Amino acid sequence: MKKRKTVKEIREMKAAGSRLTMLTAYDASMARLFDSCGVDILLVGDSLGMVMLGYDSTVPVTMDEMLHHCAAVRRGAPQAFVVGDMPFGSYQLGGEDAVRNGVRFIKEAGVDGVKLEGGVEVCETVAALVRAGIPVMGHIGLTPQTAGQMGGYKVQGRDDGSASRLLQEAVALEKAGAFSIVLECIPAQLAQVISESISIAAIGIGAGVDCDGQVLVNQDMLGMFTGFTPSFVKKYANLAPIIEGAVKQYITEVKEGTFPDAAHSFGTDRSYSGIKKKSNI
Ligand code: KIV
Repeated sequence: MKKRKTVKEIREMKAAGSRLTMLTAYDASMARLFDSCGVDILLVGDSLGMVMLGYDSTVPVTMDEMLHHCAAVRRGAPQAFVVGDMPFGSYQLGGEDAVRNGVRFIKEAGVDGVKLEGGVEVCETVAALVRAGIPVMGHIGLTPQTAGQMGGYKVQGRDDGSASRLLQEAVALEKAGAFSIVLECIPAQLAQVISESISIAAIGIGAGVDCDGQVLVNQDMLGMFTGFTPSFVKKYANLAPIIEGAVKQYITEVKEGTFPDAAHSFGTDRSYSGIKKKSNI
């Protein structure tokens, strides 16, 4: 049996210039598929609020919902490094609260680390989690939990002021002990500067090719989510029409009585006429 990916290996991959792959996963069967393909990191993102639970944003997602999905992903993925996304409200009250919730992710769901959004303002919290022995992935740039404050889902760091703030935040998160940082929706050139300025892995989404790794939401890259798809997403498959086609064919065959056919039924020589008689009694 192959062993599970560790923080040490993720750090070594950054040092060796070997690109990291990360995908979101929310359930055991997808996690099993992705794990067997060799994805390095599975992120149980709070994006599950939108792609799995039908919320309008990530904000309503609760700790219990996250733990439920994280535990399923862990059961399906014995090898990948599994990261649980700390939902809005689970770390904003400070270190003590964040550690209490971080411990739940590790003990109840079996994840290998947690992710939280924010820059300098969350560094104390990141340090508290790391002191408690919980590996932390940061997340800067477009941070969906506070997208409202940013004026919506917009590219961040376009001007010099916001770009240098993002660089400072990445450096501060590294100092606080984060083992990796997600860079979301920032210009590719800025992501390259940030990636080259820190010794922990910068994992990009909408941040160009010069990051230390990439992450995508699986429903987006597999073409399963029929809602809005951001322009940076490459659809490696278009499963929605395939699924729709299969479901429509199933409906037709059930209605017309051609499913199940003999190949998908259990047969026997018996006629069960005796049983019929008994049940008539
Ligand atoms: O919740 C999520 O899926 C994420 C990724 C987009 C990085 O945070």
